[in-house]
Amino acid sequence: MGNIANIVSAAVEHNRGRIGPLMPVLHAIQKQLGCIPREAVPLVATALNLSRAEVQGVIGFYHDFHHEPLGKTVIQVCRAEACQANGGRALEAHARERLGVDFGETTADGQHSLEAVYCLGNCACSPSVRIGDEIHARVTPGRFDALISESGRDLERAPAPAIGGHKTGEGAVRVCVPMDTTAVALGADAVAQAIAAEAGERGIEVDIVRTGSRGAFWLEPLLEVGSGPDKKLFGSVKAEDVSALFDAGFPGDCEHPSLLGGLEDIPWLARQQRLTFARAGEIDPLSIAEYEATDGFTGLRKALEMQPQAIVDLVKESGLRGRGGAAFPTGIKWQTVLDAPADQKYIVCNADEGDSGTFADRLLMEADPFQLIEGMTIAGLAVGATEGYVYLRSEYPVAERVFGEAIARAESAGFLGDDILGSGKAFRLELRMGANAYICGEETSLLESLEGKRGLIRYKPPLPAIKGLMGKPTVVNNVLTLGAVSTILAKGAKFYQDFGSGRSRGTLTVQLAGNVRRGGLVEVPFGATLRELVQDYGGGTASGRPMRAIQVGGPLGAYLPESLWDTPLDYEALAEKGGMLGHGGVVVFDDTVDMLAQARFAMEFCAVESCGKCTPCRVGSVRGVELIDRIADGAQRAADMALLDELCTTMVDGSLCAMGGLTPYPVRSAVKHFAEDFDRPTS
Ligand SMILES: Cc1cc2nc3c(=O)[nH]c(=O)nc-3n(C[C@H](O)[C@H](O)[C@H](O)COP(=O)(O)O)c2cc1C
Ligand code: SF4
Ligand code: FES
Repeated sequence: MGNIANIVSAAVEHNRGRIGPLMPVLHAIQKQLGCIPREAVPLVATALNLSRAEVQGVIGFYHDFHHEPLGKTVIQVCRAEACQANGGRALEAHARERLGVDFGETTADGQHSLEAVYCLGNCACSPSVRIGDEIHARVTPGRFDALISESGRDLERAPAPAIGGHKTGEGAVRVCVPMDTTAVALGADAVAQAIAAEAGERGIEVDIVRTGSRGAFWLEPLLEVGSGPDKKLFGSVKAEDVSALFDAGFPGDCEHPSLLGGLEDIPWLARQQRLTFARAGEIDPLSIAEYEATDGFTGLRKALEMQPQAIVDLVKESGLRGRGGAAFPTGIKWQTVLDAPADQKYIVCNADEGDSGTFADRLLMEADPFQLIEGMTIAGLAVGATEGYVYLRSEYPVAERVFGEAIARAESAGFLGDDILGSGKAFRLELRMGANAYICGEETSLLESLEGKRGLIRYKPPLPAIKGLMGKPTVVNNVLTLGAVSTILAKGAKFYQDFGSGRSRGTLTVQLAGNVRRGGLVEVPFGATLRELVQDYGGGTASGRPMRAIQVGGPLGAYLPESLWDTPLDYEALAEKGGMLGHGGVVVFDDTVDMLAQARFAMEFCAVESCGKCTPCRVGSVRGVELIDRIADGAQRAADMALLDELCTTMVDGSLCAMGGLTPYPVRSAVKHFAEDFDRPTS
């Protein structure tokens, strides 16, 4: 008990004075003790002047917090759609059978705890499994067994992958190896280590730079050697290839099957129109010098010379709309906050990115974190906010480390703090970690979480722009929205506005995931069709089987059949067809998909992740699962189908937020477009 008291008191002391200290305090206790012992609850409550019920309520709300210690190795298996599309369901079943426990349980010997997780941001190379802080890609049942055997040794406390580079001499050839989550899951760290070792043995000078990824995940680990027009790319490199690469002349001219040529030789990359992701994979994400050499902080320098209203006007003119899902015009949101009189305002970046099939926020934070820092600082200058928070999901450990380091470097270089670049203007930034709750991506739930509470949805109005964090006017924007702001300031509103179609201006970041051959991040002007994206960029299914369904817009998005694949991807065009662009997640399924199972999963996911505040969602989703199970049984199918439709109407009409209100979309689209799967003979 003495030890617990000391740890609680140190955690509380460390977080004293912060907004909503409860979450960071609980994270700190769990990090030290492996759990939050029940004895800690009254201690935390007293120290933070909260009731025990409030502390207990928060521990119970978030999937990450637990009272009992977990097994020596914690294994999280992704249960979300992009993993399901690639054999995830079979992997789930195998994991349960292999370990002899269900999700949420620990093996009798205390070795392994099996946990369900809903998306690890590795959706282009699914199925995904996380062991400790390591994420593994394309995990088959066989690979799962191998990982479990390795975890018996010391994998569960594997050292975090390095985020720095390695230089063997001045004038050495630049060799970029991504440190991005997916690249690392595919072996990038081992490749970097092998290059350093091989170069050392051969006395060859190399400058290994750990970049982010360009998002061409189907080619990761992707090496980029040299710089400028002579740069050469090598795709899908494995650590065991490295010696042969050096034998062939690497890093100089060399012939090797992994050599892809220059950037322009890869149409998948060359055809894209990159604004927000222009630097991704190109620069050292933590080098301010490289960021500035590629137009970084140009927008901020301009903003420092501008009046707040002029910045807001520029963002309005650009036509930028929020990339988090609702597509609300960013300039109008900022105007509301600018016009709201208050002694304190906040900028909150929503980096919760819970949608299955999406990973763009993660990629940007790992590949180009200063762009987000710059965008948030500009937002602060525009509306008169001096404090910002980035709320990042705990499923992204690499983004946490890279972004945390980027904040520290930006502070010491004077781009953040009380006197930005000697202007006398202030903006401070803090990174806050979520604790595994999908609903905390909804902006009001996120604000509750930042305040250290359960992530219950707030009634709107008042909007966060009027009454947000701690009741103060607050801009809540997605990572990509804030990222785009630096481009708009640097290049002008017209430059940005010139891209796009209809009311959807600028570029769209599509994330191709699930059962797709060339999965990854594609940035193109709005208006490309779904077919172009999944065929031309995606290359069809990874399994080689016919494509059957595409889910666009995350777990609350509709399943689209082939007849709708020629719809242009802009907010209005897709909405007209009953779809939703959301955060740009595109999850491809081949013809083995069971659409009744997908509809069931939509209801199940809602039941697991509902905040519980309103009945249509909290109870409706549970009833939805039961109904779909009955439909599968087939005893009174017609009546149950009618009841399911009625239930969906109740959820759409009666839910307080889009979690319950949109869950019927995947369900109804599955029923409408894939009716045959709901009418199978029963055995
Ligand atoms: C259930 C639910 C989950 C959401 N998850 C996210 C998310 O993970 N990231 C995000 O930026 N927005 C998410 N949103 C949208 C936010 O509520 C909000 O609209 C957005 O952060 C505003 O930023 P934007 O204007 O830049 O899009 C979610 C909304 C709902 C209803
Ligand atoms: S719809 Fe669901 S998530 Fe939204 S407020 Fe109601 S219970 Fe909470
Ligand atoms: S990693 Fe499994 S759905 Fe994203």
